[in-house]
Amino acid sequence: MGSLPPARAQDALTLQRYNSAMKSIVIVISGRGSNMRAIVESGLPVEAVISNVADAAGLGFARDNGIATEVVEHRAFPSREAFDAELAGAIDRHAPGIVALAGFMRILTGGFVHRYEGRMINIHPSLLPSYPGLHTHRRALEEGVKVHGCTVHFVTPRLDHGPIIAQAAVPVLPGDTEDALAARVLRQEHRIYPLALRWFAEDRLIVENGIVRVKGQDASQALLSEL
Ligand code: GRF
Repeated sequence: MGSLPPARAQDALTLQRYNSAMKSIVIVISGRGSNMRAIVESGLPVEAVISNVADAAGLGFARDNGIATEVVEHRAFPSREAFDAELAGAIDRHAPGIVALAGFMRILTGGFVHRYEGRMINIHPSLLPSYPGLHTHRRALEEGVKVHGCTVHFVTPRLDHGPIIAQAAVPVLPGDTEDALAARVLRQEHRIYPLALRWFAEDRLIVENGIVRVKGQDASQALLSEL
């Protein structure tokens, strides 16, 4: 008994082994970074946070938490191709198993998407395939839908498409404003993005004919709902 390390040290050892067996993550952001924060706080192995905006609010949180940060400003490049090449260089320096787009507001070139095919994941604030693109909450309110939500999906060349890993649904309530609905959806984003990334990091996702299957016990959580 005397030779066993104290319980907390044992936990740390287990966690370390667990983490080193997982795919590491580079997160790419453009702004606030609340999804990035949820991913970091979930304990997933985040190697670096990269932003195309130098004063993106999320960078401060990453720095404060000892995570490497890099800025690749799209404005400094003459073309999308040139920007994407520099961004890829910054990502590859960290050799991640996963590239997680979290509020990254740039359209990516086909070449960039292919480079990370099968290991680049995005969160989108709608129940895809409804409302790809911008202003999803406004459009949902204008259409009078009763259910809205968010989607975590693999990134493919077609914008906001790609195999769906997890979704969460929220009700659209009478009197909802765009901001109120966005906040309700965002709470669910913070639940499903870390969950979906964990499944992928643990090699628990199988993609067949564009359909994602999750292996294991908590797979039913691929649809979360506060309805
Ligand atoms: C989120 O709603 C995300 O789904 C969308 O952009 C927003 C980013 O928010 N792609 P944050 O930067 O993660 O706070």
